Amino acid sequence: MRILSGIQPSGALHLGNYFGMMKPAIELQHQGEAYYFIANYHSMTSLFDAAERRKNTLDVALDFLACGLDPAKSVFFRQSDVPEVAELTWLLTTVTPMGLLERCHSYKDKVAKGIAPSHGLFAYPVLMAADILIYDSNIVPVGRDQKQHVEVTRDIAIKFNELYGQTFVIPEPQIRDEVALVPGADGQKMSKSYGNTIEIFGEEKATRKKIMSLVMDSRSPAEPKPDAANNLAIQLLKLVAPAEVAQDFENRLAAGGLGYGDLKKALFEQYWDSFASARARRAELLANLDYVQQVLREGAAKAKLVARKVLDRAKLASGLD
Ligand code: ADP
Ligand code: TRP
Repeated sequence: MRILSGIQPSGALHLGNYFGMMKPAIELQHQGEAYYFIANYHSMTSLFDAAERRKNTLDVALDFLACGLDPAKSVFFRQSDVPEVAELTWLLTTVTPMGLLERCHSYKDKVAKGIAPSHGLFAYPVLMAADILIYDSNIVPVGRDQKQHVEVTRDIAIKFNELYGQTFVIPEPQIRDEVALVPGADGQKMSKSYGNTIEIFGEEKATRKKIMSLVMDSRSPAEPKPDAANNLAIQLLKLVAPAEVAQDFENRLAAGGLGYGDLKKALFEQYWDSFASARARRAELLANLDYVQQVLREGAAKAKLVARKVLDRAKLASGLD
């Protein structure tokens, strides 16, 4: 079974990225051949600063490795180190109906958020389809917001296969219900573009401040809160704390007598502790950047072998070779 996922180097990674995509991806690396990449071509649709892209790319590599991506198990690489994917994108664009792209939410959402509408931004799901199809991927672990793109990928692959004969493997998205949508500091979906993120490796003081200012209601500590399960701090606590600890806080909130200040303090402490070993690993990696670059180089070499084979298959099928 081949597992594939990608993440854009468009800003500091946060708990939504971690629980929605990175943690499931890291756990899956024991169950098949995993291919994970830093989607730097994709980031060109919304980030126009070269130095920032370079820095973010390195940060994603450090974050992912620190969180447990094991280069002995997974192939980890930079998207642009396998430029075959750009060639496959062209082949796929020619069989992609306009209507399929016009229906994609992400283009409309991003334009609404002020990102300049470009052809790249519009056609981005086709590049994502090429990312997935070029590695004969079976399973694509992602957060819920990416589900539509995997469905577009399936449609494109089916169309190409119908036109040119069996060429591509049809992939399946894998979305974990319990972390499909991690809420941010304001209760909306946690996202870099909403300014509501809690970073995985945020600076201690700033992150404590962010967590202490989570938006709560004005009920007094004494008041029982039967809706404790929906409380934002409880939802986040369930992600970062052992289940029994989170359950205990939820019970105390429901019974009354637990103040939001104490709850948020506990949330910060659990968050900070849960990433302590990853934080230490990240500091080691930061002092050993040659190793990180080598991991990405070796990953790209392995990825290229598969990508070349699948691209050649598609070129042969479509009469280019
Ligand atoms: P952002 O919205 O911060 O720009 P990305 O679009 O770069 O995040 O997402 C990278 C990966 O992380 C995707 O697989 C996405 O589904 C997942 N992800 C992002 N935010 C969340 C969230 N709040 N909850 C669950 N998964 C998320
Ligand atoms: N589009 C994804 C995002 O913004 C990143 C991505 C690019 C991806 N190519 C992919 C994810 C292929 C899974 C598979 O989060």
